[in-house]
Amino acid sequence: MKHMVLHPPAGLDALRLQHCAIPEPGPGQVRVRWHASSLNFHDFCVVTGVLPVASPRVPLSDGAGVVDAVGPGVDDWKVGDRVLSLFFPKWHEGPPRVSHVRQMTGDTIDGCAAQYSVVDAAALTPMPSGWSFAEAATLPCAALTSWRALMSVCRVKPGDRVLVEGTGGMALAALQIAKMAGAEVYATSSSDVKLERLRAIGADHVINYREDPEWGATVARLSGGGVEHVLDSGGRATLAQSIRAAAVGGNVVVIGVLGGVDVQLDLLALIGAQVRLQAIAVGHRREQIEMVRAFERSGVRPVLDRSFALEALAHAFRYQASGRHVGKIIVEIE
Ligand SMILES: NC(=O)c1ccc[n+]([C@@H]2O[C@H](COP(=O)([O-])OP(=O)(O)OC[C@H]3O[C@@H](n4cnc5c(N)ncnc54)[C@H](OP(=O)(O)O)[C@@H]3O)[C@@H](O)[C@H]2O)c1
Repeated sequence: MKHMVLHPPAGLDALRLQHCAIPEPGPGQVRVRWHASSLNFHDFCVVTGVLPVASPRVPLSDGAGVVDAVGPGVDDWKVGDRVLSLFFPKWHEGPPRVSHVRQMTGDTIDGCAAQYSVVDAAALTPMPSGWSFAEAATLPCAALTSWRALMSVCRVKPGDRVLVEGTGGMALAALQIAKMAGAEVYATSSSDVKLERLRAIGADHVINYREDPEWGATVARLSGGGVEHVLDSGGRATLAQSIRAAAVGGNVVVIGVLGGVDVQLDLLALIGAQVRLQAIAVGHRREQIEMVRAFERSGVRPVLDRSFALEALAHAFRYQASGRHVGKIIVEIE
């Protein structure tokens, strides 16, 4: 079988196509034939060495594929089931514990840039029925993070106002989930062309954050005092404006670090608005199962950008770094 292997100290030139024997599942394990994956900013940080790997690593957290063999004692899956990977294979439900989040697919353990993997039977969920592998492969990291932020942390209700930032995979999934929940969505982007896409996907209000550096204040003005929920994508580049955009008593979910990780905060602004800041990391298995059901019921499909073959993984990451994409970049695994 073939897989892409990242060799320390990492970098896109350290991604190599390699071949090895197809692994056999042991007790409680399942072998999956992956058909598609998708790129996340997290994967980019792994392959470029921002999040260093200590030993050779198969990257990519997201996978959609078919159960190909089951080990002894596995009753939950049968050969032919269409499945999704889990970002945190050990976090099945409840609040996060250290033991839940130590294993990260495609980071601290091998990921889905491979034809086959052997995983614990509990480290999978069903795919949405009727979806292509490419569509399903958008869900395990970006969409689950948005789902957890909106449904578990913010508990969005119909009529709530939500701000999402940028046109990457996480932000667009958030836009779609917020609309599914009946919210009014404010969305930002770096370009007017992308703002048009945001409108077509369902955003009610769009703002170009390059042209309007005080976009948080603009959201607060347009919404008559601020929105109930903000999903912060940019860290240093966005958090102050995200707090500015939030209503008194609103939620700002700290998700992204696109603009840097160290942040200076005006605590008076935070205290004055009594904003709740909550950082999150992806989500757990039960949330992924609930999200899959919600997407199935809604009929909403993810926004796909370009596809690349597994062998062209480095090109896919270069394309991601260019920032030209809207939605998810797909990796097809032939
Ligand atoms: N905490 C978690 O568990 C978790 C999970 C998933 C993602 N994330 C984070 O969420 C962020 C997005 O991830 P992704 O996978 O969706 O990335 P992605 O698909 O590569 O999206 C990147 C997009 O974000 C926008 N962007 C870039 N710089 C920005 C800035 N300074 N302010 C606002 N938007 C900016 C750009 O869109 P425009 O040109 O339209 O602005 C860019 O195309 C990353 O920081 C990632 O680490 C966190």
